[in-house]
Order: sequence, then structure tokens, then C-alpha cells
Amino acid sequence: MKRVLFVCLGNICRSPMAQGAMEHFIETRGLKDKLTCDSAGTGSWHTGELPDRRTLATLRSKGITLNHRARTLSPRDFQQFDLILTVDRDIHRQVLREASESDRKKVRMYRDFDPAGAGDLEDPYYGTQADFEEVWRICERTTPAIADYLLGGSNVK
Ligand code: 4NP
Repeated sequence: MKRVLFVCLGNICRSPMAQGAMEHFIETRGLKDKLTCDSAGTGSWHTGELPDRRTLATLRSKGITLNHRARTLSPRDFQQFDLILTVDRDIHRQVLREASESDRKKVRMYRDFDPAGAGDLEDPYYGTQADFEEVWRICERTTPAIADYLLGGSNVK
């Protein structure tokens, strides 16, 4: 079993969107016994809350139901996950600070796997529904590349 963790700031917008996209991918490709994912935030303001209603609305419009409550990144995550993907440069720096030297190699930028180009996954929190749709589009096209990386290419169409 390969395990991937998505990390953003509040764990209510970007990383839950990435989680929803990956869970949907795992489900539709029959990868449940090969791949699992979760999400977390570096900040604790929203701990215990459901994802932002705009995240949920975007996912729902694709037929995806996400059951997740916001949580913060914990030291145990570095042991439990094979790959930890950060949504932007600030989060990346923060997560690297929290990682031991040997765990740092597990930490990569989410959009390093985006076939349309690297960079930050922009925070839509202060934006509009259209900004959440854009986050979805990036997650949708990036998810297969992450699965491909973790599963060595042989299990993914
Ligand atoms: P996220 O978005 O990191 O993609 O979940 C944010 C959610 C909440 C806040 C900032 C970003 N906040 O400042 O509360």
C-alpha cells in the first residue's frame, strides 16, 4: 500500500480538493488496495471542521462526496506516508522545517506533478467559486501523475 498526504494551510480548501480528486481516482481505477490518501494543514484555525462549502460544492458537482475533518500535520505523518505533497512554497518551507533530515526526501511540491507545469497551487480562500473550479482542474490533471509516480506506472492507464 502506498500512502500520500496532501498539505495546505487551513486543510479546508486546497488539500481536501486534492484528496477528493485522488479518492475519486482510486475508486474509479480500482486502486483501493494499492493506494490511499489523506490531507492536513499546517495551521489549526479550522481543526475539526468540514472542508470549505465551496470545496464541497465543487467536488459535489463532479459527483464526489468527501468525508474529512480538518486536522493539522503531525510528526507521525512523516512515518506513515510515503509522499507528502505541499501546495505552495510557504507550506513547503514550513513542512520541511517540521521534518527530520531523513524524512525531507518524502516532501515534494504538489504541482511538481502537474503535467501542465509546476508552481504554487494558489489559495482560493479569499477568491470566488471560479477559483475553486481552477483548483479542481489542476487537481484533476495532476492526480494521475501522482498515482503513476507512487505505483511505478504499471497500474495506471
Ligand atoms: P487552504 O485555504 O490552505 O487551501 O485550506 C485556506 C483556508 C483558511 C485560511 C487560509 C487558507 N485561513 O486563513 O483561515
